[in-house]
Amino acid sequence: MTNTSLETNQAPLLNVEKLSVSRSGRSIIEDVCLTIDEGEFVGLVGPNGGGKTTFLLTILGILKSRKGIIEIYGQKPASKSILGKIGWVSQSAANIPNNVRITVRELVQLGTLNASNMFWGGGATQYEQVKNAIELVGLQDVENRDISQLSGGQRQRAIIARILASKAEFILLDEPLVGIDRESRNSLLKFLDKLCHESQKTILMVSHDIAAIQQTSHRMIYLEERIRYDGAANCFPDLADLAALRGIQPVHEHNYTENNLYQLENLEKK
Ligand SMILES: Nc1ncnc2c1ncn2[C@@H]1O[C@H](COP(=O)(O)OP(=O)(O)OP(=O)(O)O)[C@@H](O)[C@H]1O
Ligand SMILES: [Mg+2]
Repeated sequence: MTNTSLETNQAPLLNVEKLSVSRSGRSIIEDVCLTIDEGEFVGLVGPNGGGKTTFLLTILGILKSRKGIIEIYGQKPASKSILGKIGWVSQSAANIPNNVRITVRELVQLGTLNASNMFWGGGATQYEQVKNAIELVGLQDVENRDISQLSGGQRQRAIIARILASKAEFILLDEPLVGIDRESRNSLLKFLDKLCHESQKTILMVSHDIAAIQQTSHRMIYLEERIRYDGAANCFPDLADLAALRGIQPVHEHNYTENNLYQLENLEKK
């Protein structure tokens, strides 16, 4: 599913060339090149501090690059003409404090606010947008319920519904699976995959859950300052190959066994 732009001759939705980003004078991302096409579901993985959130914030135009090019729909980040086309779900967005009293419907409605409808309410079109978004994420039965009464998975879906109501086409999600149970995680992943296939959305999703991402996304990118892997999710390297790609030398002579793979995966997350 990668590089379909080459086959169709269509410009990629996101084009990143030789991107380098520093924070507080320290290089965080170095020489990143990639393209993402419309309809792709891309998983962005990597160790803590590897630069995933920094990368998303740079695409959004919140952080400035030191070097390189970013084009979204052929425009620079934060250009006026692409405002509203990009939706962002931040790390721990679903951790809304319990004292915030807001229903699912009201939260989703916030996604439809823009400069032109903020004061007059938006009317029938806005009502339809909100209704469709709530139905898409399957929360119609709890739409009048307070957000604080929902499960972690339902909250996360409500946050995504807000993005859908905004009509965003390119959705960036930073760790949407944190804090949600296995069942909700599976249905959320299925739902995101459906969004790409049936609603032509494009998704770039950060997660530490490599196994879950591998089962769902079409393509995976491993970022640790530089891109260490970018390719089909079903060809994602095993831990030994990944260590080699990251430039990690084996300390012991023995090969890793099935038993300690689990421990290693958890070490990766720390
Ligand atoms: N405001 C900041 N100023 C300076 N350095 C920062 C700032 N925010 C983050 N960093 C550093 O940038 C590096 C990359 O951070 P970033 O949050 O992009 O990583 P990440 O891959 O998203 O990590 P995680 O998986 O923990 O969310 C880290 O070393 C971090 O300490
Ligand atoms: Mg992060």
